[in-house]
Amino acid sequence: PRFAAIIVAAGSGTRAGQAIPKQYVRWRGKPVLRHSVEHLLEAGADRIVIAIAPDAKDLAREATAGLENIMFVEGGATRRASVASGLEALALDPPEAVLIHDAARPCVPLAVVERVLSALEHHAGAIPALPLVDTIARTQNGVMTGQEDRSTLARVQTPQGFRFAEILAAHRAWDSETQPTDDAQVLRHSGGEVAIVEGSQRLAKLTFAEDFAMQAPPVRTGTG
Ligand code: C5P
Repeated sequence: PRFAAIIVAAGSGTRAGQAIPKQYVRWRGKPVLRHSVEHLLEAGADRIVIAIAPDAKDLAREATAGLENIMFVEGGATRRASVASGLEALALDPPEAVLIHDAARPCVPLAVVERVLSALEHHAGAIPALPLVDTIARTQNGVMTGQEDRSTLARVQTPQGFRFAEILAAHRAWDSETQPTDDAQVLRHSGGEVAIVEGSQRLAKLTFAEDFAMQAPPVRTGTG
């Protein structure tokens, strides 16, 4: 099916403790951002809108040099605002479906894209997720105050897929004070149904300096 993609890359990326925002740091031979752009183009995206910070234009152009069907938009102060900028840019020539992806997740397995897109045949939105393996504790002031039933919880990743008209309308209608951390929350707020498909360990988000040091996540060796 024909689909477009939005990659949000307008965050400060400062938790990674690098000299430049983490999405532009070289990782496995290429800037972090370039990996997911290439994977989404290979998976069949007909164009990719990348939301970037206003002061990162040179870094973003350099990171995507030589790639076609890419356009940049200025991101906003929040992830949600950055996604909204990307959606408005696509709305000039609306695709049927859109995948929305975090630049901080360089690896995008083709199988995940396929699972997300095929779920869109029956749902307005579809997200990849993985089960939790750790105990999930509630905490307060360094003390455990309770626990969650992890069997009812999932770790949500990107790329998240949506029927374009529905996610555009949901973003335009967003009126909540809370800051959503993904677009599934935005769609659900408008009453849309979100299917969950199997995610991948390879979709892990690069967040901290130690994530960059690892050559082949998620396999960890040594005592760390
Ligand atoms: O901070 P976090 O890792 O949750 O950000 C998720 C994604 O959203 C990152 O790829 C980041 O660049 C992007 N983002 C954005 N605009 C913002 C904040 C975050 O595009 N204002």
